[in-house]
Amino acid sequence: MTHGEAAFAARIIDWQRRHGRHGLPWQATREPYRVWLSEIMLQQTQVSTVLGYYARFLERFPDVASLSAATEDDVLALWSGLGYYSRARNLHRCAREVMARFGGVFPRTAAELATLPGIGRSTAAAIAAFCFGERAAILDGNVKRVLTRAFGIADDLSQARHEKALWARAEALLPVHDLPHDMPAYTQGVMDLGASICTLRRPACTACPLVDKCVAAGEGQPERYPVRTRRLVRGQITLWLLHARDAQGRVWLRQQPEKGIWARLYCLPPHDGHEALMNSLPVTARDGAVRHAPFRHVLTHRDLDIHVVSAVVRPTDMTGPGRWCTPPEWAALGLPAPIRKFLQART
Ligand code: ADE
Ligand code: SF4
Repeated sequence: MTHGEAAFAARIIDWQRRHGRHGLPWQATREPYRVWLSEIMLQQTQVSTVLGYYARFLERFPDVASLSAATEDDVLALWSGLGYYSRARNLHRCAREVMARFGGVFPRTAAELATLPGIGRSTAAAIAAFCFGERAAILDGNVKRVLTRAFGIADDLSQARHEKALWARAEALLPVHDLPHDMPAYTQGVMDLGASICTLRRPACTACPLVDKCVAAGEGQPERYPVRTRRLVRGQITLWLLHARDAQGRVWLRQQPEKGIWARLYCLPPHDGHEALMNSLPVTARDGAVRHAPFRHVLTHRDLDIHVVSAVVRPTDMTGPGRWCTPPEWAALGLPAPIRKFLQART
């Protein structure tokens, strides 16, 4: 690590006091209701847009009791135009839970705040830091950008262990002295630095308090962080497999091609749908064919929905690539796990 950890927090706090945002309405209060409302509104929305909504909302619902007594329709109407309406529904549910579970008083710790609807780990930490000076780390998108750049962290954050390591890093960087004063300034500072200086594109490194120790700035291409992996779209595949048996209990298996799912493994022969599968059977075997309830097999990047049709055939009915296998024979072959399971259950 290139930064002394204490030096990192001190630089952020000093920068926040001199250059960060001040005088916003939610900064003038330590009332959890008002801070919570601002944090929820600011999650996906710019400060300039939030200002008007924030004032109107507080005028109509000045405290958690009045919000909890409202109808969801009233809350949604006031939210109209802010977008991401699940925020408004959770806000309303959260107000009701604060009334029901905490007697109308917001809990004072990040851990308890995080048990409420719509309050994630980072938001809970922000509220606890702003209102109560709790030494709790935030890690929203802005802060992830600052930390990965400052420390040159190129790990793929879509992997849980890397995300976890970044949380640990964020915690290790927190101020250690004078927490009631430093935690709000530090928390606002990392947020503001990410929002205004360490931006997604063309960060203003020359104006950044971290520049002389920043790994990404030293490398010359800060935009490379955080490292983004292509977002994997989960795929879904439906397979129609023929489970052909002969009178001796042997099973007809076919080796899968070189490429694709289950490459080179032995499998019940796949078909393009139920009709194609039935048409591959001799007419005499179709009536007795049994269609099993489909089952799902979950792979890393896709779900397989597997349909199997069982039929008893004569050995000579099966032609083309494939082989008849007795149970000990197929047990010794490379089979996909769900196929092995299926056969084991029926032997
Ligand atoms: N985004 C989320 N919380 C914020 C805050 N307190 N100030 C500015 N932007 C924010
Ligand atoms: Fe971000 Fe540049 Fe500051 Fe590094 S020096 S933290 S890249 S703004």
